[in-house]
Amino acid sequence: MADIKNKYPENKKGKFYVDRECIACDACVLTAPDNFGMDENDGHAFVKEQPATPEGEDLCREAMEGCPVEAIGNNGDEEE
Ligand code: F3S
Repeated sequence: MADIKNKYPENKKGKFYVDRECIACDACVLTAPDNFGMDENDGHAFVKEQPATPEGEDLCREAMEGCPVEAIGNNGDEEE
């Protein structure tokens, strides 16, 4: 499970986020291209848009479950 304390500042505020475990494998960007983007300079993904529909939410969850290093979290709403 990703750690909210290690999330990248680029993540759009909200439920989903990418943390510093990301190895830039690109899987989340391919699974949910509307929601995940790649910071090519720094070599990691980030959430560029939180899902706005149930379908988008499903894709983000799929991306989270498919991440090989568990760098995606969905407890971003618990942040202050
Ligand atoms: Fe990184 Fe996992 Fe996406 S390694 S690129 S957060 S699928």
